[in-house]
Amino acid sequence: MILSNQLIYWYLQNKRDLPWRKTKSPYKVWLSEIMLQQTRVAQGLPYFLKFVEAFPTVFDLAESKESTVLKLWQGLGYYSRARNLHFTSKYISDELNGIFPNNYKELLKLKGVGDYTASAIASICYDEPVAVVDGNVYRVLSRFFGINTAINSTKGIKEFKELAGTLIDASQPGTYNQAIMDFGALHCKPQNPLCNACPLSESCVALEKNLVKELPVKEKKLKIKKRYFNYLVIVTENQKTLFNERIGKGIWQGLYEFPLIETKKAVSEKELVEDEQFLTLFPNKTTMSLFNNEDIVHKLSHQHLFTKFWIIKTKKVSQKTIEWNEIKKYPTPILIDKFLNEYLNMK
Ligand code: ADE
Repeated sequence: MILSNQLIYWYLQNKRDLPWRKTKSPYKVWLSEIMLQQTRVAQGLPYFLKFVEAFPTVFDLAESKESTVLKLWQGLGYYSRARNLHFTSKYISDELNGIFPNNYKELLKLKGVGDYTASAIASICYDEPVAVVDGNVYRVLSRFFGINTAINSTKGIKEFKELAGTLIDASQPGTYNQAIMDFGALHCKPQNPLCNACPLSESCVALEKNLVKELPVKEKKLKIKKRYFNYLVIVTENQKTLFNERIGKGIWQGLYEFPLIETKKAVSEKELVEDEQFLTLFPNKTTMSLFNNEDIVHKLSHQHLFTKFWIIKTKKVSQKTIEWNEIKKYPTPILIDKFLNEYLNMK
């Protein structure tokens, strides 16, 4: 049996029962595929359900505020996905009368839609025979064919996309694409793949050559950058604080945070109060305490944030404040949300 048939046969018996599989609505498929990038199905599923409930159509999403979208996205990470999702919903609603483009080439033009998402929507919703290549597909193909080209190299990306394109079942491309993704997620897993009970074992090169653990190959990642964050958690006498939207490009744009002083290395209280930014905010002597004795290390894909939360009690501040009892309404990075959960519990 050819590979695509074997995968589809396996899929029909083992597929996951997922809400976006019950529809060919491009809106719902788009939503699910954006959420599932860099995210496991189990983690993405509750977010999908929340989004569909809050925004049943692309018009509802387009009419919402960006901060509402970011709040619902909170915890899923890679927030540019949410900002692009919102931007694109407005474009589809306002410029395309709510109708999604119906082919790969046009879908690719949408902001936040890359090769993976365009292929997924085009194949699932419009039966266009374009192959998706996600982490699961890289793993299945590299093992089955014994390919050791790095999957995150330009050469590898091209090679695997071309190979995937030759394998697709043109009569049911959406089913085939989801079959190979599910097969990678559930059967040909990164660790402990189920080779003993594998329907592809007779032709799997990696199994034959004992290379299952070695494949797929990935080029070494960039060096992880260490950053040192000091959040100034201000508590005024009348229960207000400073909590501002993060602006400019970079991580967490559009999310809210306490005033932040980033330093070149971990600092003591004495060093912090001498910092120019600190003196601008608090020209007079202040009392403060460190909330966490050990740095909280928040790991992002290319950087580790060593974070201290400094609690500063003060009479008042001159900048625009918010009420402490409203703070949970604002979208914020999960690093700060976790701090708030602990802090508000004690307060
Ligand atoms: N991962 C991302 N999208 C998926 C899909 N449609 N099916 C299986 N796994 C996926």
